[in-house]
Amino acid sequence: MKLWGGRFETGPSEVFERFGNSLHFDRRLIDCDIRGSQAFARQLERVGILTAEERASIVEAFEAIRAESLAPAFYSGATDEDVHTLVIRKLKERVGKAADKIHTGRSRNEQVSLDTRMWLREECADLQALLCSVMGHLLGLAQMYSGAIIPGYTHMRRAQAVLWPHYLLSYFEMFLRDWERFEDARRRANILPLGSGALAGSGFPFDRQAMARDLGFDGITRNSMDVSGDRDFALDFLYASTVTMIHLSRLAEDWILYSSEEFGWLELGDNVTSGSSLMPQKKNPDSLELIRGKSGRVMGCLTSLLVTMKGLPMTYNRDMQEDKIPLFDAADQLADSLLMMSNVIDATRLNPARPAAAVEESWVVATDLAEALARAGTPFHQAHQIVGRFVLESVHSGKKPSDWTAEEMQRFAPEFTADFVALLNPAEGMKSREVPGGTGYRAVAHALARAKETLGKLIV
Ligand code: ARG
Repeated sequence: MKLWGGRFETGPSEVFERFGNSLHFDRRLIDCDIRGSQAFARQLERVGILTAEERASIVEAFEAIRAESLAPAFYSGATDEDVHTLVIRKLKERVGKAADKIHTGRSRNEQVSLDTRMWLREECADLQALLCSVMGHLLGLAQMYSGAIIPGYTHMRRAQAVLWPHYLLSYFEMFLRDWERFEDARRRANILPLGSGALAGSGFPFDRQAMARDLGFDGITRNSMDVSGDRDFALDFLYASTVTMIHLSRLAEDWILYSSEEFGWLELGDNVTSGSSLMPQKKNPDSLELIRGKSGRVMGCLTSLLVTMKGLPMTYNRDMQEDKIPLFDAADQLADSLLMMSNVIDATRLNPARPAAAVEESWVVATDLAEALARAGTPFHQAHQIVGRFVLESVHSGKKPSDWTAEEMQRFAPEFTADFVALLNPAEGMKSREVPGGTGYRAVAHALARAKETLGKLIV
């Protein structure tokens, strides 16, 4: 069955038909397509196109088609151009002539926008739930080692000591922003396009607000041409997905390093690592590597649609059919990656002695010393110079911070009064970082409590 044809003397070639067919991927929208068509049938009754009986039999038939569509056999032998065509053919098979009126005043251009928006808003909610699970697991791991100290890095060089929960909470913040981005994407998608027609607005006086209420939309679109040419809602979703994948990828990268023999901080679970077919000793972080790898793939999905949309003349162009493959792929890869990350976090244990040793043998306390000098009255620039020379001397003489005594320090620089020796313990300097958002013990305990509270509100 075709939704067009009168104007043509011959049919499409087999090559063109195969080339343009989208059913094998847009069938994923079938549930949304049917629910949208049910609401549309109710409006067709309102404007006098369908009788109450016709509407009732159509809505009921759609319900049966919905149930039937869950079985893979539903699609066997289907050669329809797209999901919209398939659904109308199935309706015709059930209700006969009444089905010929279902597409009155409606275009597939708005229908595909409607279906995708409905699918997206549901997908956003699912991904938000998966994000909450990742955030919950992060908080669990933070709580498990709430007093552990690790070196924080800049330029991949040991910089300053931070609390382990402070480090994990930095990812919590990233995923929280991702959650908000999906909330925004959901909100933007959740506007009803139906009633726009092909591009000029429908020729029938549909009550668009009623359709919006019927289908759970927050409002209606304001411009029919915009509807026909718009895929911003898909781009918003792909951008949110890409940023989330980048965050997952960076966490994966950190943990691939931190679980290496060189670091030895983390032990990844046996259930999320692989062995080598050749080297018997290997325990490889494949789950994390795949997450990192998939981030490139999802970024490609965003790029793909951006490039597809660039330069399209208003309004609808068939190019836009190419939006769905990257959209579905990004959503699936992200959902899998979030679930995988939750599993990885759940199965990861910290060996606090290793990062503690890394902190102890490095000069992460240098900033604490310089700031203490500044607090005691030495201008910071001079304080920086003194501590810099102190570190250089230590490097030359092979001393780590704990090798110095108070007397030796004082001999090195009179500004180092007796109390400075305590600052060679990195836990000491951390006490001065109680500024909100800092790594001080109280600041982090407070942040952890707030994060839990925030997450609790997202979940309900
Ligand atoms: N299958 C098309 C798409 O996904 C929707 C149908 C509109 N087709 C058309 N030739 N106007 O974009």
